[in-house]
Amino acid sequence: MKSYFITTPIYYVNANPHLGHAYTTIVADSLARFHRLMGKSTFFLTGTDEHGDKIVQAAEKQGQSPQEFVDTISGRFQALWLSLGIANNRFVRTTDAEHKLTVQAFLQKVYDAGDIYFGEFGGHYCYGCERFYTEKELENGLCPQHLTRPEFISEKNYFFRMSKYLPWLREHIQANPDFIRPERYRNEVLAMLESGGLEDLCISRPKSRLTWGIELPFDSDYVCYVWFDALLNYISALGWPNGEEYLQFWPGEHLVAKDILKPHAVFWPTMLKAAGLPLYSHLNVHGYWLVRDTKMSKSLGNVVDPLQMGQSYGLDAFRYFLLREMHFGADASFSEESLVGRINADLANDLGNLFSRVLAMTAKYFGSLVPQGAAFDKDDTAICELCAVAMRNYAQLFSHVQFAQALESLWELVRALNKYVDSQAPWTLYKQGNMERLATVIHVLLTAMRKVAICLWPVMPEVSVRMLEQLGQSVSDGMPPVPALEVEMDDFAGLEPGLKIAATSNLFPRIEKKDKDVAADAARPKKEKDKSRKQSSSLSDTPAPEQKEQPDTVPPPIDFEHFKALDLRVGTVVTAEKHPNADRILRLEIDFGEGKLRQILSGLAEHFAPEEIVGRQVCAVLNLPPRKIRGLMSHGMVLTAQSGETLRLLTVSAPLPNGGEIA
Ligand code: ME8
Ligand code: MG
Repeated sequence: MKSYFITTPIYYVNANPHLGHAYTTIVADSLARFHRLMGKSTFFLTGTDEHGDKIVQAAEKQGQSPQEFVDTISGRFQALWLSLGIANNRFVRTTDAEHKLTVQAFLQKVYDAGDIYFGEFGGHYCYGCERFYTEKELENGLCPQHLTRPEFISEKNYFFRMSKYLPWLREHIQANPDFIRPERYRNEVLAMLESGGLEDLCISRPKSRLTWGIELPFDSDYVCYVWFDALLNYISALGWPNGEEYLQFWPGEHLVAKDILKPHAVFWPTMLKAAGLPLYSHLNVHGYWLVRDTKMSKSLGNVVDPLQMGQSYGLDAFRYFLLREMHFGADASFSEESLVGRINADLANDLGNLFSRVLAMTAKYFGSLVPQGAAFDKDDTAICELCAVAMRNYAQLFSHVQFAQALESLWELVRALNKYVDSQAPWTLYKQGNMERLATVIHVLLTAMRKVAICLWPVMPEVSVRMLEQLGQSVSDGMPPVPALEVEMDDFAGLEPGLKIAATSNLFPRIEKKDKDVAADAARPKKEKDKSRKQSSSLSDTPAPEQKEQPDTVPPPIDFEHFKALDLRVGTVVTAEKHPNADRILRLEIDFGEGKLRQILSGLAEHFAPEEIVGRQVCAVLNLPPRKIRGLMSHGMVLTAQSGETLRLLTVSAPLPNGGEIA
């Protein structure tokens, strides 16, 4: 397949966009870029859904006409996508004249085929959901989504013979495991189809009740039901039935959250089937962004502003976080603390550090000219093989919408490269005058870094371009040459010896952590954290959490409450020994007068021999979440003071009973 079509839902314009909308749109943007990088001709569509009762109600609240209101809010969505660097090919609005014509042509086609009929219907109508509920679906007589009492409405309407196509749909989903993914949503839809609860779909609203919609071509007393109208954006924007773009790009892939699974998995394929159109290839369904365990939503008022996040932390870092943090399909919690944690660990420590170290060494040892490598030894070959595997996994996982896993696979390479720097110790090779080996090591590093930079373009387009420019690559149209990924995967090359590269790189300045951030960092999945700490071993990296990072900026003031929240105490070190699996860490058992000793791991081993510490009184924070460091638990943090290479323990001016409070 040489072309690729990806869509987002068209968002309701009854309120302003938030992080949830931004996530779907950023994912679609990344997917479109990924497929462009694979050499495909791509089309990326987003837009706004502007008809229906909800919109009329929202407009009334603002004292505006529906058209004025939808123009304003749709404009805000378009402006947001522009500020977030979203490169969509088209922005469709259901109030567009072409869209209206498409909906009418489609309705007429299905009507002529005999799949739309006129009938009487009574049901419980929820205005929030814009749909009828059956008695069975209500919970205690209330809409399960909005917990409000629906209105019983009985009227004559037009119906789409959806039930006729349900057995066929079930077979199609069974025969195509990838049609709805991930699998949990496929299973959910199959269960829905097997339950027998689905009937024909009411697709009209009498004008007596609602006029803000598209008129039915075969009955001017009715307008089209908002979902039947909205779903058709996916083909109206391409110019169905004869548009060039329709012919080139349909069928494509959709991207939605689980809230709108049913219309996309049941209504839409049966509509396409009834009209004799090919089905979409994949429905990709993601979970919700939560804020403290609750869905972020405009109706709940707990929304995060994506623009502000992008402005505070950098757009690309924000994009990286969204794709890395959410396991596609499952819900994820949003917090600024976890965002900062990811930026510092993955971007500043792992990726940023790699670039700044290697560019600095190339400047120092080779005057910033890419050196010519010699024959590979087994360590070089291992990097070269890992690079091919990581890239192949990355591409494979990315195209299967497994973004977190794809990035993790790329980070295995990034961390291995940092480790390779440490194990090859270029500074020692330089001291020994072993310039040939040094040249090979630097060449291997730079070659792999270029590959990493290319892979990252879909996720972090601006940073990727900066990395490539630092590596002396000329970038045209703001992207790597196409088709990059397929060609680059198996060929460990791409950097010409003698090429001039940048001498420094500061891609991701560390974000200084506030107290609450440290706690949040500790709350990250432990296995992952251990791994990243173990593998990233740059010169400045701190293996032990006890060592404070150097702040880049003057810290902002904190509330006294925050300081008071710390449980700071004096205790006596009873035992001290080296951590069996970590050279720089000491395992301490400390008496804080608690009746039993407390184990704390501390990055002191390079500064103190264990026997120097035993018997001393130290100061520590006790109420941090316990964390596991290379297999052992640490229940607190010993306080130290540092200047350059020198590290001192904080202690008391004269002995004090253990457990004494520090304030
Ligand atoms: O449903 N987490 O529009 P909508 C993740 N107009 N994604 C979220 C989210 C959250 N907390 N909140 C919203 C509609 N989204 C219809 C669609 S399509 C033919 C018509 C995202 O404004 C997610 O993509 O309610 C979800 O599916 C969509 O916004 C719902 O947008
Ligand atoms: Mg919604």
